[in-house]
Amino acid sequence: AITRHYKFDVMLQNVTRLCHTKSIVTVNGKFPGPRIVAREGDRLLIKVVNHVQNNISIHWHGIRQLRSGWADGPAYITQCPIQTGQSYVYNYTIVGQRGTLWWHAHISWLRSTLYGPLIILPKLGTTYPFAKPHKEVPIIFGEWFNADPEAIINQAMQTGGGPNVSDAYTINGFPGPLYNCSAKDTFKLKVKPGKTYLLRMINAALNDELFFSIANHTLTVVDVDAIYVKPFDTETLLIAPGQTTNVLLKTKPHHPNASFFMSARPYVTGQGTFDNSTVAGILEYEESNKTIKSSHSPKKLPFYKPNLPPLNDTSFATNFTSKLRSLASAEFPANVPQKVDRQFFFSVSLGTNPCSKNKTCQGPNGTMFAASVNNVSFVMPTKALLQAHHFGQSKGVYSPNFPINPLIPFNYTGTPPNNTMVSNGTKLVVLPFNTSVELIMQDTSILGAESHPLHLHGFNFFVVGEGFGNFDPKKDPANFNLVDPVERNTVGVPSGGWVAIRFLADNPGVWFMHCHLEVHTSWGLKMAWVVLDGKLPNQKLLPPPADLPKC
Ligand code: C2O
Repeated sequence: AITRHYKFDVMLQNVTRLCHTKSIVTVNGKFPGPRIVAREGDRLLIKVVNHVQNNISIHWHGIRQLRSGWADGPAYITQCPIQTGQSYVYNYTIVGQRGTLWWHAHISWLRSTLYGPLIILPKLGTTYPFAKPHKEVPIIFGEWFNADPEAIINQAMQTGGGPNVSDAYTINGFPGPLYNCSAKDTFKLKVKPGKTYLLRMINAALNDELFFSIANHTLTVVDVDAIYVKPFDTETLLIAPGQTTNVLLKTKPHHPNASFFMSARPYVTGQGTFDNSTVAGILEYEESNKTIKSSHSPKKLPFYKPNLPPLNDTSFATNFTSKLRSLASAEFPANVPQKVDRQFFFSVSLGTNPCSKNKTCQGPNGTMFAASVNNVSFVMPTKALLQAHHFGQSKGVYSPNFPINPLIPFNYTGTPPNNTMVSNGTKLVVLPFNTSVELIMQDTSILGAESHPLHLHGFNFFVVGEGFGNFDPKKDPANFNLVDPVERNTVGVPSGGWVAIRFLADNPGVWFMHCHLEVHTSWGLKMAWVVLDGKLPNQKLLPPPADLPKC
């Protein structure tokens, strides 16, 4: 294992897409941002220098950050933001993970332009549990806004309404030929016949789950969220914001004399009208030297487009997620907690806050949109929670009384209750070191059932169960998979249903959990866990670094 150094200069850069040129916040002037490549076991030292007017923080999405919570990155949770002219070195070691993760800004909506791949190769001397691919290619989905995304969310939060949707989805920063004024901004993947490619797919879009498919090609899923899974073939995959999926693409044995669209568009449930346009890239076969010599003029090749499932195809989504299983091999075991110390039931839903006096609000019935977990809409603190916890200064910053059940149980997927109001607070759950946690997350029908990709910082969890309707504590646990459930850091709570996860709280610190649909995070669909230090020296949070930003 070695130490790898990176420098992230956060700076403005002019970028043109869809015929709109604007100045965006980037890392090193790149959009999407630079790729980090390391091996399992390596230490990363990433110096982030803020040259822009915005406050910045960077999160290393999916990195476990064992005892190194100071480097996790969510603003006001584990650190104060890096202010203009300041810098901070994120310092962490990659333990027990290999695959694809990513990094993104974790403050306001800056992650719309500040994001990039974080690739973890197997330890030196070890290899993949599948044949070594000919080539590896990151495929990162995003969203392009012609307007300033910060202004969009600030305005939505002021008026209480829903924010404007983006103008395009992107693949590696490019919207592709199906949008106006975009044909030249198309991601092209050149391949050779008869080879296997490892596509490292990342959904960095702000607000949409995506279906993805390559015309006339089958994909083999081998890894999600940097954990190997039992390989399976699929034409189309589903990937929620925050999630990563590695797939193998076997190219045709001979040059097919055609090109193929690779495209993505949203999976959307619940109410609301969303942008339903499609981002496309192109899979292009390289001519062999022989064909190039024999053909005098390059011919126009036919194009094939994939068939993506309909926008609201929940049965496709359910079928796809049910195929995801941990590899659970001798080398890569699934350490599913078999016993549970503490059980939690969280309802995750949209709701409303009253409109303040003398204002007109654009949320449902003149209210302001809000979102909550167990009816609590999370209020961002003005000091970082991890410092407050570590230095024993939690008073006035947060309270340790997050409700372990919904305050008023109701029929979550039946007739919506009349009262959609949330309560507001900065409430946390406190867990002793090594607590084995089972958490049921239940979607509700308040303001429409909608699928929520819930992301937990600092841990991977096992998805032991999933179902539709109300979770039934008497019947459903009997069907939990405690053998080879998928292990990941972001899981879709199904629209009108529930998901059950288990994790071992073996990482001391303060860990954010939130919906990875950015608008829901803004509305308060978030909370945090405090995991206390254990007794042994190697069970304690490391001391804070000297350059930790101050609020
Ligand atoms: Cu990818 Cu808290 O975020």
